[in-house]
Formats: sequence, structure tokens, C-alpha cells
Amino acid sequence: MGNVNRMKSSLANSEWAIEARGLIKHFGDNRAVDGVDLNVRAGTIYGVLGPNGAGKTTTIRMLATLLRADAGSARIFGYDIVKDPHIVRQLIGVTGQYASVDESLSATENLIIFSRLLGLGRTEARNKAAELLEEFGLSEAAKRPLKNFSGGMRRRLDLAASLIAQPPLIFLDEPTTGLDPRTRNQMWDTIRRLVDTGSTVLLTTQYLQEVDELADRLAVIDHGRVVAEGTVDELKASVGTSSLHLNIQNPQEIIVAREIVEQILKVKTTVTQDIGKITAPMSNVDAVTDLLIALRQKDIQLDEFSVQKPTLDEVFLTITGNEVKEDVPKDFKGSEQVEGERV
Ligand SMILES: Nc1ncnc2c1ncn2[C@@H]1O[C@H](COP(=O)(O)OP(=O)(O)O)[C@@H](O)[C@H]1O
Ligand SMILES: [Mg+2]
Repeated sequence: MGNVNRMKSSLANSEWAIEARGLIKHFGDNRAVDGVDLNVRAGTIYGVLGPNGAGKTTTIRMLATLLRADAGSARIFGYDIVKDPHIVRQLIGVTGQYASVDESLSATENLIIFSRLLGLGRTEARNKAAELLEEFGLSEAAKRPLKNFSGGMRRRLDLAASLIAQPPLIFLDEPTTGLDPRTRNQMWDTIRRLVDTGSTVLLTTQYLQEVDELADRLAVIDHGRVVAEGTVDELKASVGTSSLHLNIQNPQEIIVAREIVEQILKVKTTVTQDIGKITAPMSNVDAVTDLLIALRQKDIQLDEFSVQKPTLDEVFLTITGNEVKEDVPKDFKGSEQVEGERV
């Protein structure tokens, strides 16, 4: 542990926790990760937001030296993941890697074993286990064997285990997916505390709200590519301060309706295929009056009309120009790609 501690203290001056360039990973014909660049400043929470299958886990596995990249390079606190994987592994923690803890042992016993493996003394390990179980609200369940734990409790124990050594860089792969709101809030508090006490966190998520709550910056990832990068505010600004939702009665008029919206609001619109809803960013709510008049003049009947704060899903739709499941050309920009495809 002496070496690691020396290494950790020398990281204090390191500006970047992660610098990744052009990471690529194929699985057969599938380009799971297709040229990802990431810069994560030390001491921050960085969000990687994307739908299922976007390439989030594959990216983390490469950065954590669990999977070899086909191309590209990355440094963790300045250490190359290919040339110095042993050092890199000392500097990171990945949730999910403790999935194979012993089911017949209690939570306390599992944490003590991990602590001992990481070099803590007997008393130190016992104290650390108790402290972490308390922090994660697992004290009451601490003596129960793991096989009686719920999914949420396992997730918390998993995070607790990865924090025994509180590594300088922590990868949290969808830490709150499927958790109830209370547990999720506890998780958020813990994540904030990690950064307050000096760690850097890279967090993947499918929820805009989560990056909104936690992240200093984020990358939006889709089909293995970073399609947007910046602060949450920058991202939201790119889709307007509010968003307009318009359902028209006659789906055949959707092209005309979109043209009118785009002309009057001077923005790009997107169309949700299944329900024929038009969505557009709005910065000037006053323009709504002009828009309604123009639609009336063209005799376009509305089913529904509303102005709302943009959700992360809308931000995502605006940026990627698509619903997330489909295979889209790799060279599209913004929402333009929707033009030819959908309408
Ligand atoms: N071990 C693997 N073998 C084959 N394909 C994989 C493997 N891991 C991931 N993939 C594929 O790579 C793509 C990205 O997956 P993943 O990184 O898990 O996305 P995410 O974590 O964003 O949901 C998906 O199409 C997935 O099916
Ligand atoms: Mg994943």
C-alpha cells in the first residue's frame, strides 16, 4: 500500500483524471465504441449519458483496463492504460466488479474480506466495514447473508465495497438504474461526498435528471459516439429554455405544420414517429401567438399544444435527431438527419 499512497499523493497536481482519444471497440461488425474522446478534470463528477447499447459500459471497461481497445489511447491521471495498466488499476474503482461476493456470508463479512484483501489491518477492516454499512443504510441488514439482500441493497453494498480504499477515480456504471427514489437520493449524496473528499467520479446514466443533479460536465453518447459535450446548462441551452409540443389532428399535414413551426420559431423541429408529435426548442414564448395564428391561417387543426421545460429525453432527441434505437448514418449532425428520414 505504501507505493499506492505515494502515487496517490503525487496525483494531487494532476489536472486530468481521464484523457481519452479516439477509443474504438468492435464486437464483430458492431462498432460498440466508435471514436470516443473524453476529458475529465480531476475532482469533478463527469456524466456519460446515453441510452441502452450506446457504448457506455464498453467505454468504461476500456478505461478501467478490463477490455482492450481496438484503437485509440487513454491516460488515467497521466498513466497510459496500455503501458501502465498496473498503476491505472491502483487508481480506480469500478462498481460491478464485486458482483461475485460470497452469497452465504453477511454484508459485514464481505466488506471485511475486501478490506483485508486491500491490506487493511483486522481492526481497521472491521471499523471500515461498520462505517460503510452505516453510511449506506445497511447497518440493520449487516448480519444477514447476502442471498437475502434486495437489488437496491446489493447495489449499495457494491458501491460500499468499491469505496473501501476510496480510489482517486471511481467509475459508476448506471449506479441508480432501477433504484427506488429514496435509495437513489442516498446514492446521490454518497457520490457528492466522494467528490467532496477528493475523488473524481465518472458516472454513466440514462437519466438527464441524474447528470443535472450531479455532473459538472457531461458527454452525450449514442451509437458509440460522443454527440454532445459540455455543462448541463450548455446542453439545455442548446435545446432552448422551454420546449413546444404540438399534436396535430391530421397526420398528413405534419410536413406543413413543421415548416410553419420552423419558420416562425426559427429552429429545427423533431417529430416523434409513433404519435406524430412535433417538438421544438423555444426561447421566446411570445412567438406562440404568431405560431397559433399561422397554423389557423393554414387550417391546421390541433389536438394538443403545450410549452414545457425540456426533459433530458428531449435534449437527447434534439441532439441526436433520432429516437435511440434506430441505426442512423454516422455522419449526421444535430437534428438535420431527421429531415430526410422521417418526413
Ligand atoms: N461482450 C460483448 N460482445 C458482443 N457485443 C457486445 C459486448 N458488450 C457490448 N456489446 C454490444 O456493444 C454495444 C454497446 O454496449 P454497451 O457498452 O454495453 O452499451 P451501454 O452500456 O451504453 O448500454 C451494444 O450493441 C452491445 O450489444
Ligand atoms: Mg451499460
